[in-house]
Amino acid sequence: MPGPEALLALLAAPVLLALALVISGPWRLLDARVPLSLMQELERRQTDLSRLAAAARARDAPALPPGALGCAELHGVAGVSLAGSGITKVVLRAAVSPGGEEIALKAVHWAGSDVSRCLQRYRHQEGCYRLASYKLLKEAVLLQSLDHPGVVKMRGQCYDRRLGLEMNVVTMLELGTPLEMIRLLQTPWEERFKICLELVELLYYLANSPLGSIALLDFQPRQFVIVNGLLKVTDLDDVSTEELPCKADEDCALEFPTKSFAFQCAAHGKCEGINEKRNLFNAYRYFFMYLLPHTAPFTLQPILAGILNATGDLRYGANETLRAFQKVLHLYKSGLYLQKKPSHLKEYIVLKGFRNKDTEDYKCWPSYSHLGCMISVHNAEEAADICSSHPQCHHFIITPRSTWTGRLLTLFQSNLTDLIPGGNMVVYVKRPTASRGFL
Ligand SMILES: Nc1ncnc2c1ncn2[C@@H]1O[C@H](COP(=O)(O)OP(=O)(O)O)[C@@H](O)[C@H]1O
Ligand SMILES: [Mg+2]
Repeated sequence: MPGPEALLALLAAPVLLALALVISGPWRLLDARVPLSLMQELERRQTDLSRLAAAARARDAPALPPGALGCAELHGVAGVSLAGSGITKVVLRAAVSPGGEEIALKAVHWAGSDVSRCLQRYRHQEGCYRLASYKLLKEAVLLQSLDHPGVVKMRGQCYDRRLGLEMNVVTMLELGTPLEMIRLLQTPWEERFKICLELVELLYYLANSPLGSIALLDFQPRQFVIVNGLLKVTDLDDVSTEELPCKADEDCALEFPTKSFAFQCAAHGKCEGINEKRNLFNAYRYFFMYLLPHTAPFTLQPILAGILNATGDLRYGANETLRAFQKVLHLYKSGLYLQKKPSHLKEYIVLKGFRNKDTEDYKCWPSYSHLGCMISVHNAEEAADICSSHPQCHHFIITPRSTWTGRLLTLFQSNLTDLIPGGNMVVYVKRPTASRGFL
């Protein structure tokens, strides 16, 4: 089986083949000793791919942008290293010339469990590689057909048949970083809410996509990457663009390890809405449940609990879920979520003309800075309330930086020696307790 060097050499091959050649049929390029069931599987995948490609063509799916990358660009790639791998595909990061921009290259994972399982079963290298290549091709057709900020952008593609009868496919994508749930769990609520909101926006788009309602069959955090701070789905080979066919309601069960749901079999013989609901329940069990509730602002907690219940019971569709998320965003951004209570701001003296040393100070969790306690606030009043609730807090500084919602990043500190006169920062210093009564 080719090692990484052979794979890299293969990626750099100059041969450019038309899509028509690649999907011209499994029987063309294979020898006569292909096991029947493997041949049938290849034919099924090829039919599925042709159908999808025809649907994309019929809907005038946007082609790759002008200046899209092709096999020729793979010649000049530099700094190739592994970005990730899954059961079917391996993903490399590489810099393309000119300019050295880094992109992701996806190819069949020769040593992945998909190809290995197939080889064990059929002992037919060429057929097994081709089976996996169909997945990559299906993904490429979908990536070209779907146009949404939550779907990773395809930058180009290369079909390469240089190695005898073997087929090789490489897709070139914008480069992201794998989604790390553990790291995400340690970020402030606002950042975790952003990921969930972006996911809901994607699910709304998928439920209403130009190719119909699309279900992500292998829905897991590892199928997503972060590109420039945005959540994007990258693994689209295992999706269904058709609702489940049915004869009776009993055919429309949606089963998860902990729960199952019953759907109706619609008159046209499809389990109506099952794809959308399947995505939503997966979003609930892999994302919302972990990311939404903890350290959420107190007054938003009942609304978030309502969203969790409604998606966990599949009472909400993508539309209602999106509206509920937008409502939370509005309450949060506008400051309406803040509880009406007497402000602590009058307990602070405002001092102007300081700058801050990047030194360690007291920590809070979760903080936007590892050096100290940095939290986003709606306004100085909210910051004063927070400072007054932290026994260590002596003063706070509203920095010029803001979060994605426009909230102000504020540094809470205990040590006045962190402040140096001569800058343009405004510092709110807690008045000594004895003096509060006189002012
Ligand atoms: N555009 C990308 N940028 C960076 N890493 C990526 C990108 N696409 C995928 N990956 C990483 O590669 C892994 C495998 O890709 P994926 O398409 O999920 O393959 P598989 O179908 O084998 O699961 C992903 O889990 C992810 O960590
Ligand atoms: Mg994957």
